[in-house]
Amino acid sequence: MRIVAVVLAGGSGQRFGADVPKQLLRLGGRTLIEHCVAAFDAAPGVDEILVVMPPGRTAEAEKLLGAADGADGPAYRKLAGVIEGGVTRPGSTRRAIAAVGAMLAADGAAADCGVLLHDAARPLVGQRIIADCVAALGDADAVGVAVPTSDTIVVASDGVMTTMPRRDSLFRCQTPQAFRLPVITRAHELARADPDFAPTDDCGVVLRYLPEVPIRLVPGSEHNIKITYPRDLAIAETLLGEHSGNKETGT
Ligand code: CTP
Ligand code: MG
Repeated sequence: MRIVAVVLAGGSGQRFGADVPKQLLRLGGRTLIEHCVAAFDAAPGVDEILVVMPPGRTAEAEKLLGAADGADGPAYRKLAGVIEGGVTRPGSTRRAIAAVGAMLAADGAAADCGVLLHDAARPLVGQRIIADCVAALGDADAVGVAVPTSDTIVVASDGVMTTMPRRDSLFRCQTPQAFRLPVITRAHELARADPDFAPTDDCGVVLRYLPEVPIRLVPGSEHNIKITYPRDLAIAETLLGEHSGNKETGT
């Protein structure tokens, strides 16, 4: 099966509040996007990488990632392209899925393809998680990465607790999330027709619109944090320092 990794970097990073979208900020000397692209470039199971940027910023990413052939060739050999995303995350995912479909059709290879959808906001994704996702796609149509929650989680509404699900049934979702291309394409087609649905990830789209499709769970890692606020970048710097020796083989 051909595997395409998509790095979703089409957001504006409003909660982070920097002058530039957070995926262009540096962590240990490299931008978040470069960390993600480097991880997938190094992953043996990944064939190609597609990067999604905010409209008007694709040239910036191409320059950063060395997509234009320099004297030494492209910096990341699996980088297939940089495209513009949508206004919302699901809009960006839809554009990416369509671009992957077009890439495969151009090669006459549309049938058997898996996509790994990854948030650029998780720059510390490790090789073990990527390999587990690719392996799980061998016999699963949909795959999610998640870690058990150590906090008790409660559902609340208007400042009042309503239900408290058992903690051992609760997980925090991470990315990548992996799907057979026809499955995620169909789920997003159905979601698009529902204006009230604003999913924050892609497993949520499959769960809601294709509930008959089981989503395999792959263990995530506390190392694979999401950069949302400035303090997260400080935590990531610390994690990068601690794990710099074993990042490729570790979490
Ligand atoms: N994303 C995207 N296209 C969008 C919105 C988000 O590709 N239209 C990407 C982001 O770049 C990020 C990932 O989806 O890598 C997860 O989104 P989030 O952490 O919410 O990032 P932002 O939307 O950029 O941040 P904020 O919600 O604070 O504005
Ligand atoms: Mg967002």
